[in-house]
Amino acid sequence: MAAQSDLRPGEVTVDLPAGFDAGVYFIGRIRTPFKSREECPKNTAESNAVGRVELDPRYAAGLRDLDLYSHAVLLYWMDRARRDLIQQVPAHLGHPRGTFALRSPVRPNPIALAVVEVLGIEGATLTVRNVDCVDGTPLLDIKPYFASTDSVPGAVRPGGRGR
Ligand SMILES: C[S@@+](CC[C@H](N)C(=O)[O-])C[C@H]1O[C@@H](n2cnc3c(N)ncnc32)[C@H](O)[C@@H]1O
Repeated sequence: MAAQSDLRPGEVTVDLPAGFDAGVYFIGRIRTPFKSREECPKNTAESNAVGRVELDPRYAAGLRDLDLYSHAVLLYWMDRARRDLIQQVPAHLGHPRGTFALRSPVRPNPIALAVVEVLGIEGATLTVRNVDCVDGTPLLDIKPYFASTDSVPGAVRPGGRGR
């Protein structure tokens, strides 16, 4: 059961559906130096931390050729996040923003993503830099990062449109 953080003034919850539409496999765990959410960096850009992606050995063959790439995308499951906030008040912002306009782990499907530097592969273990999650966070998928398609140099960020 995810820990339920307190609601901040201005935050809005949603009634989640009674059942799920699909199932997922946790394909491994991300091992990091961070034992709690509070210890984690805010995001990968603020993290130089090295972590180990420990895959279930049944999937190890899927790492073949990932070392062709300098960076990979990790998709992971924020297992300690509540799921029912549809508008949130980030502490650094102080006013509400829609969940889908945030990178918060709190969302109906608590899926996070990180572009990490690939440092090495040994058996079912991938060593990476730039991790930002709690030690033991479940892993959903790994994909190579393609600067040619995944990078949008002209993209604007919050503040770029005056909000
Ligand atoms: C803002 S999120 C960004 C995650 C990811 N890089 C993204 O952009 O989707 C990172 C924060 O999530 C929290 N967090 C880390 N691991 C978590 C977990 N397993 N469950 C819930 N929250 C977690 C920590 O507070 C951390 O600073």
